[in-house]
Amino acid sequence: SVYATQAEASVKVAGRIAALIRDKQEKGKKAVLGLATGVTPIGVYNELVRLHKEEGLSFKNVITFNLDEYYPMKPTAAQSYVTFMNENLFNHIDIDRENINIPDGTLKQEDVAAFCLKYEQKITGLGGLDLQILGIGRTGHIGFNEPGSAPNSGTRLVTLDDLTRSDASRDFGGKENVPTKAITMGVGTIFKAREIILMAWSQKKAPIIKKAIEGEISGEVPATYLQLSDHVEFILDEGAASEL
Ligand code: GLP
Repeated sequence: SVYATQAEASVKVAGRIAALIRDKQEKGKKAVLGLATGVTPIGVYNELVRLHKEEGLSFKNVITFNLDEYYPMKPTAAQSYVTFMNENLFNHIDIDRENINIPDGTLKQEDVAAFCLKYEQKITGLGGLDLQILGIGRTGHIGFNEPGSAPNSGTRLVTLDDLTRSDASRDFGGKENVPTKAITMGVGTIFKAREIILMAWSQKKAPIIKKAIEGEISGEVPATYLQLSDHVEFILDEGAASEL
């Protein structure tokens, strides 16, 4: 769907998340959410915080799994996705800390594979992700699944694309400070979610959105794999949709 503004679209997405949480609450169940970082979902998180503060939306029955984290990365660092999630969402809602899952950027390299397997098993053990929200990188990455990622890939350590590191350089005060690796859920992990929402705002994302939606399905643009799923929705503003 295409919305006139990203603000309007963000409110819609937050409303869908809130409806899912309330529906699960009524059934006495947990809502299992896959969350994303980057500037794209900030409007959604702001609206969820507003719904919590002004309309009593509770996150007590919510379990979250973030897509990715830089590696190596200390959770307390300003650029960590832990810090991002705390500042933009978790510090402002009533979620239980033990229900928050974010890949651990402090692991020793030899412990990463076991951690990734456990991350997958934890999601599966909870019955899978009810909803995964996604942004998209200019390389066509989802999470940090860069060009070359396999459609059935799982949570793993990956090497970041040069363009991705350039795009992140502002946050790190120079590209040389951007980690070269990350831990990310795989394309396969994302695909298993019962519902996937990919959001993109502004004309800057228009070329990659055109490729993702209309381009040939290929590992060169991992977001094209989403064309293979019947439970994906692209939510765009007019800028991001302008080349379709
Ligand atoms: C990062 C994240 C992605 C995100 C992408 C786009 O690389 N790992 O999950 O989708 O950036 O970021 P932004 O939303 O800031 O454009």
